[in-house]
Amino acid sequence: MAEYTLKVRRYQPEPGEDGVARGAYWESFDVDLDPTLSVLDGLLQTRDRQDGTLAVRCSCRAAICGSCGVKVNGQSTLACKTQLGEAAEEAARIARRTHSADIGREGGAAADSVGPVGASDPASKDELSTGGTGREAEDSPGVIIVEPMGNMPVLKDLVVDMESTHWEKYRRVTPWLIPEGPPPEREYIVPADAMVDVTQSVACIQCGACVSACLSMEADPGFIGPAALAKAYRFVGDPRDGQTTERLYDLANDPHGIYDCTHCFACIEACPKGVAPMNQIMRLRRLAGDEHDITDVNNGRNHELAFVKIIEKKGTLDESLLLQESFAPGVKGKLMPTIRAIKGLLQSIPTAIRGIRTGKMRSVPKLIPGVHHKLPGDSQDHVKRIYERAEESRIELNLYVIGEGGEEEHLPGQEGAASEIVSAAQAEEVSGS
Ligand code: SF4
Ligand code: SF4
Ligand code: FES
Repeated sequence: MAEYTLKVRRYQPEPGEDGVARGAYWESFDVDLDPTLSVLDGLLQTRDRQDGTLAVRCSCRAAICGSCGVKVNGQSTLACKTQLGEAAEEAARIARRTHSADIGREGGAAADSVGPVGASDPASKDELSTGGTGREAEDSPGVIIVEPMGNMPVLKDLVVDMESTHWEKYRRVTPWLIPEGPPPEREYIVPADAMVDVTQSVACIQCGACVSACLSMEADPGFIGPAALAKAYRFVGDPRDGQTTERLYDLANDPHGIYDCTHCFACIEACPKGVAPMNQIMRLRRLAGDEHDITDVNNGRNHELAFVKIIEKKGTLDESLLLQESFAPGVKGKLMPTIRAIKGLLQSIPTAIRGIRTGKMRSVPKLIPGVHHKLPGDSQDHVKRIYERAEESRIELNLYVIGEGGEEEHLPGQEGAASEIVSAAQAEEVSGS
């Protein structure tokens, strides 16, 4: 047994004894449990022994029902799948990092001697902050921070309203099969290997952790989101479905659809079941653009192609080319721009001004054709090799086929393909940053 402190972000909508409702606040509870038990066990012990008003949702306690989604130390996850010992170690790591950063900041401030500390004081900032881990300067290392999930309204303490965000978007993608033709006399027969492609999205338990972590949803609450789009792929990839093109057309043309994802990987990191929602969204994009030739009204497809083309050509992303290449691709596009391209470019003027102001588009050397001026001479060769490897290894990444955590179970002809793609993707990430 070991003692752990859970620092819980609470919200009680009912008025207190004084008849006054209070806003969100933090409360710490000490629990004495085995390190292998879960954060959910800690919360349930707290509710049983210390405060019966603590609201937390749960059912299976075995990472199956998807009802105990919370943020632990700032990371969206399942409370029943997160061990207390590991969460405390992670909290201590975060505290050490924050402490070093604080020392760095204080050192810098002392050296610069710039004015009063005020709002730039880390402690004041933490007190004011409603996001992040909510860690305050006096927290001892190892205090486990537990918060309700993000991107969803909080109903009470750790219970969020999943209906208004998660389930509404889930219904948006028509999450049922629409088979074509008359139904068979008995059941629909599908070869087993035809279903392998959708097994990963079938594994979703609708916990909402990916929705909570999604950065795009934070910026655009209208975004359909990772969970619903992963579910959409489950039906797009199902050979029994007869509405594949219609589904893809709908998701590509929705301004909050597949092109609204910013490829940030947060949903992959958060998902407790290995669904990797971002990968399912990329598959939807590939199917829509490459196989069904859908050019969407949001210009998402062209933007993506311009992105790929510029990095291949210049070794890194050149923002000054991105807008023109997205709306008016190639020489022909620029010599004879369509009305839609002119309209799109005019509408993008505020974005361009922001880019110039922030320095993303200002640099004159960026306008000179060739490799980016800050990159070493052979960078372009490296980037080209990544592109070649990615083209050669165009297999679908499905964890249920290739295995997790290095235990790869390759299908014939796929030996090493996963690691090749991962290395290529990592290298591409570096080049694009
Ligand atoms: S990768 Fe896309 S869907 Fe996933 S969290 Fe980031 S923005 Fe959201
Ligand atoms: S995709 Fe993963 S994180 Fe998102 S709802 Fe499904 S199981 Fe939860
Ligand atoms: S209680 Fe069911 S997933 Fe956590």
